[in-house]
Amino acid sequence: MSHLVIIGAQWGDEGKGKIIDHLAKDFDVVARYQGGHNAGHTVKIGDKTRFLHFIPSGIFRPDKICIIGNGMVIDPGELIKEINTIKADGIDVGGRLLVSSNAHLIMPYHYLLDSSKEQDLGEKNIGTTKRGIGPAYADKMRRIGIRICDLYEKERLRSLIEENLKEKRLTLKKLYGLNCPEAKKIEKEYLDYGKKIEPFVTDTTLAVRKYYEEGKKFLLEGAQGSMLDIDHGTYPFVTSSSPCIGGVGTGLGISPRKLDKILGIAKAYCTRVGSGPFPTELFDELGNQIREQGKEFGTTTGRPRRCGWFDVVALRHAIWVNGFTSLAITKLDVLDDLDSLKICVKYKNNGNAIEDFPTNLSLLENCKPVYETLPGWKKNISGIKDYAQLPSNTKSYLKKIETLSGTPISLVSVGAERGETLVK
Ligand code: GDP
Ligand code: IMO
Ligand code: MG
Repeated sequence: MSHLVIIGAQWGDEGKGKIIDHLAKDFDVVARYQGGHNAGHTVKIGDKTRFLHFIPSGIFRPDKICIIGNGMVIDPGELIKEINTIKADGIDVGGRLLVSSNAHLIMPYHYLLDSSKEQDLGEKNIGTTKRGIGPAYADKMRRIGIRICDLYEKERLRSLIEENLKEKRLTLKKLYGLNCPEAKKIEKEYLDYGKKIEPFVTDTTLAVRKYYEEGKKFLLEGAQGSMLDIDHGTYPFVTSSSPCIGGVGTGLGISPRKLDKILGIAKAYCTRVGSGPFPTELFDELGNQIREQGKEFGTTTGRPRRCGWFDVVALRHAIWVNGFTSLAITKLDVLDDLDSLKICVKYKNNGNAIEDFPTNLSLLENCKPVYETLPGWKKNISGIKDYAQLPSNTKSYLKKIETLSGTPISLVSVGAERGETLVK
């Protein structure tokens, strides 16, 4: 295996951080291509649990190069905090953390626009992380965004901030009665951030090309998940970037032709944070039990995650749009105590069977899951080190997922710790 992309197959939080940290040992470069600090990737090594928001999950392996690609949106103040937290832990990032000069900046007004729009939407809110992600990507697409490279041209930065503030000030005041921070204050703050991150800033497209030509192996890290993709997810209840495979080319400047394998990560059940359709959601005690057992509370916002059964209809959609070559199934141990398990094999809508994930939101919202029920394994599987030793009911559950999805499972995760990963 040479170059591998890892993409969440559900609604995010599938355990990407854990699997990426585990697999990174066999790669040279770990690179992120989209999203910002709406992502929260957890890496547990021994007793130590760490959370990453911008920095790729390969950073805890000292010889790995980690790239923050041009397709990401960055709050440099928050990035500096994350770098400092890692450094305080004795991890050296010098010379091996690269930040794209073309990545767009999340500005203070993006946070205000994000949270006030959410408040304005009331019950119809998206449930964003309120990190300014949507407004920052919107400005990028409107060609008025400010990039990391602009932090090194004082006059240009000033004029970009002033231009942006003209409309942001008006919007915030007129629509939400809010004041915008002063241009001078933002400029000073961001120039200072620019100085602090300068040692990491570079043309990452060139760096990717150089490393590729040197024969280095790439592990590409998606954030969020396929069902949160701006194009292929449950729009408008999505994020504002492309976690799916299409985001790799635009977010790092590497042709999809150069990539060999695409691993889709799915939890052994489903979760979702924020609003939007979730056909297999459990509203009963069982949903609470899975949430408690799986510690399903947001890594970024602390919000309780909605929990439900495994959904093969959604998975097949993610498999098609990404072209997953295999799957990793995580958090199997969370289901250890259950007597029986359900897998959603199709939906029903007004008496009609639906086999393909609907793109129409109204249709999807009225879909009811049709389940197959399998027996539980009622055994603690966390300590198991070898796939062959998994209980036969666990293997049957995995086999069912493989058969229904038509995609092989290559990895299984039975605990949060780095080593609790089984190769199939
Ligand atoms: P990510 O956003 O996809 O990286 O996932 P998060 O880090 O937001 O959420 C996954 C959570 O599950 C984290 O708390 C992980 O430590 C934990 N986790 C990952 N894999 C497993 C597993 O196989 N079993 C258990 N019990 N926890 C896991
Ligand atoms: P990782 O990388 C789970 C969700 C938010 C909201 C929607 C839009 O840790 O898997 P945004 O702030 O992006 O505009 O919010 O997307 N969301 C995530 N859910 N995991 C994530 O990242 C998420 N990043 C965003 O909850 O529903
Ligand atoms: Mg997460």
